[in-house]
Amino acid sequence: MKGGLLLISSLILVFQATWGCLEVCTCQPYSRMVDCSYRGLLDVPSHLPSQTQILYLQGNQIRVINHTSFINVPDLRILDLSNNSISRVPLYAFHYLRSLQVLNLTNNYIHYLEGQVFTPLLALKELDLSFNNVSSLPDSLGNNTRNLTFLGLKHNHLQAVDRMVLETFTNLKVLLVKSNPWQCSCPVLGLKLWLENFLYKGGIIDEVICTSPETRKGKDLLKVPFEFYKSCPPFTTSFPMANIHQHGPEHRSNGRHGYHGDHMDGSHPECEPKPKPRPANLRHAIATVVITGVVCGIVCLMMLAAAVYGCAYAAIMAKYHKELKEVERIASAAEHGSAEEKEPLDGTLA
Ligand SMILES: *[C@@H]1O[C@H](CO)[C@@H](O)[C@H](O)[C@H]1NC(C)=O
Ligand SMILES: *[C@@H]1O[C@H](CO)[C@@H](O)[C@H](O)[C@H]1NC(C)=O
Ligand SMILES: *[C@@H]1O[C@H](CO)[C@@H](O)[C@H](O)[C@H]1NC(C)=O
Ligand SMILES: *[C@@H]1O[C@H](CO)[C@@H](O)[C@H](O)[C@H]1NC(C)=O
Ligand SMILES: *[C@@H]1O[C@H](CO)[C@@H](O)[C@H](O)[C@H]1NC(C)=O
Ligand SMILES: *[C@@H]1O[C@H](CO)[C@@H](O)[C@H](O)[C@H]1NC(C)=O
Repeated sequence: MKGGLLLISSLILVFQATWGCLEVCTCQPYSRMVDCSYRGLLDVPSHLPSQTQILYLQGNQIRVINHTSFINVPDLRILDLSNNSISRVPLYAFHYLRSLQVLNLTNNYIHYLEGQVFTPLLALKELDLSFNNVSSLPDSLGNNTRNLTFLGLKHNHLQAVDRMVLETFTNLKVLLVKSNPWQCSCPVLGLKLWLENFLYKGGIIDEVICTSPETRKGKDLLKVPFEFYKSCPPFTTSFPMANIHQHGPEHRSNGRHGYHGDHMDGSHPECEPKPKPRPANLRHAIATVVITGVVCGIVCLMMLAAAVYGCAYAAIMAKYHKELKEVERIASAAEHGSAEEKEPLDGTLA
């Protein structure tokens, strides 16, 4: 027994030695995992085992990462750098991490992202930049990262995001953006339009609450009527027709009021009211068609659901009655029956 344990532990030791775990970290050679979290590290350790696939560095005081930090761990799949003191992510920091799937940079002081910093990460699926000081996203953020499904940006300093940047996230499923100082005037329209489409396609977001202008403070961006953005520049060119009517009633009842609200803001010249881009009756005609279509669709679905439910209910009830009769029959038989007959009865009821 003791000998066996000794053999196993010495085998593990030999394995660890050949794998080259660092003294300050703990390693799990089988899962290619190196855990250097909460060790008070000031730098990314050099001489990480070259086969490392999972690297935990969270909860240290790492301030700088550069192009040599991860040069000898090219197989990395998960990298957790959350809860450190990183303020800048230099251009080639992740240059060699072609297999990286999860990058966690939450809880740092990142305020600036280099343009192409994430483009080498071809396999990236989850990028978490929450709880940083990011105030703008580089144009090419999603350019090469076609597999990105999760993007965390909550608790940053974003006021608006360019729609072109968002369009690059072709496979995104979850976007977390709450607790940013969203500036819900014209610059945020791109985000609003993109979000409507994203949600329509089944995407998941947390919330986008406006911080300014004063008239929209505390409001959910998705519930700000489109009427507010009527005279914003991209509105006339890239407005997807179907999206207007998602907030149809609100749009109608708040329309005029909203118009004046914008006028009073006055801080954004491009938001000044301009002549209507489209004849009103054409818009209303299309609105009527779309709303009618949606209502008919919903009614049809409800009827279908009711029919399915009714059939299923009838079938279940019929089965239930049949079984009840069966049980009653067996039970009455068992009342007069002997001990041997009780066995199958219990089995039936169980
Ligand atoms: C972050 O790390 C510090 C130590 O470096 C620790 O005191 C703190 O609790 C950690 N916070 C979180 C959210 O993990
Ligand atoms: C990269 O960072 C490490 C540790 O922070 C440092 O030792 C090294 O000199 C840096 N390399 C360059 C090229 O700046
Ligand atoms: C990143 O780390 C934080 C805290 O360490 C955690 O709450 C968050 O879920 C992580 N994000 C991802 C994408 O794993
Ligand atoms: C993206 O994901 C697909 C499916 O998971 C995978 O086959 C493909 O290799 C990934 N792309 C990259 C560049 O890793
Ligand atoms: C980051 O933002 C916080 C407020 O969210 C602020 O207190 C802190 O000074 C900022 N840090 C840097 C390095 O910009
Ligand atoms: C995105 O990548 C393509 C090629 O991969 C490049 O031509 C284009 O300029 C990039 N766009 C941005 C905004 O970096």
